[in-house]
Amino acid sequence: MEEDPYGTDAIIKAMRTGRHFGGGRAVLPPMPWTWVGTMTDEDLEAIVACLQSIPPIRNRVPVPVPPAPAGGAT
Ligand code: HEM
Repeated sequence: MEEDPYGTDAIIKAMRTGRHFGGGRAVLPPMPWTWVGTMTDEDLEAIVACLQSIPPIRNRVPVPVPPAPAGGAT
């Protein structure tokens, strides 16, 4: 069985590696995974437990749009 992309392990892996669901595409730059991912396992597990305690909603997430190149290319 594949790993649950919303499970604790996948979310922690995403925060540590900057990869969508812990193993996919690179997440966009606003997500500060380089410092979020430096937290201890205990802290990340606590954050995930807090997030998972919130009831889910239906929300279609738009496709990711990478930032434009620096210098304002047209
Ligand atoms: C403790 C703080 C934070 C936690 C625990 C957290 C956690 C996460 C997680 C689990 C994801 C999903 C990764 C995936 O696609 O599998 C995500 C995505 C994202 N986060 Fe954060 N985040 C935090 C702070 C922030 C902050 C401060 C920002 C921006 C100011 C931010 C911006 C984003 C964005 C834009 C995405 C979507 C990136 C993409 O789809 O490419 N996050 N975050």
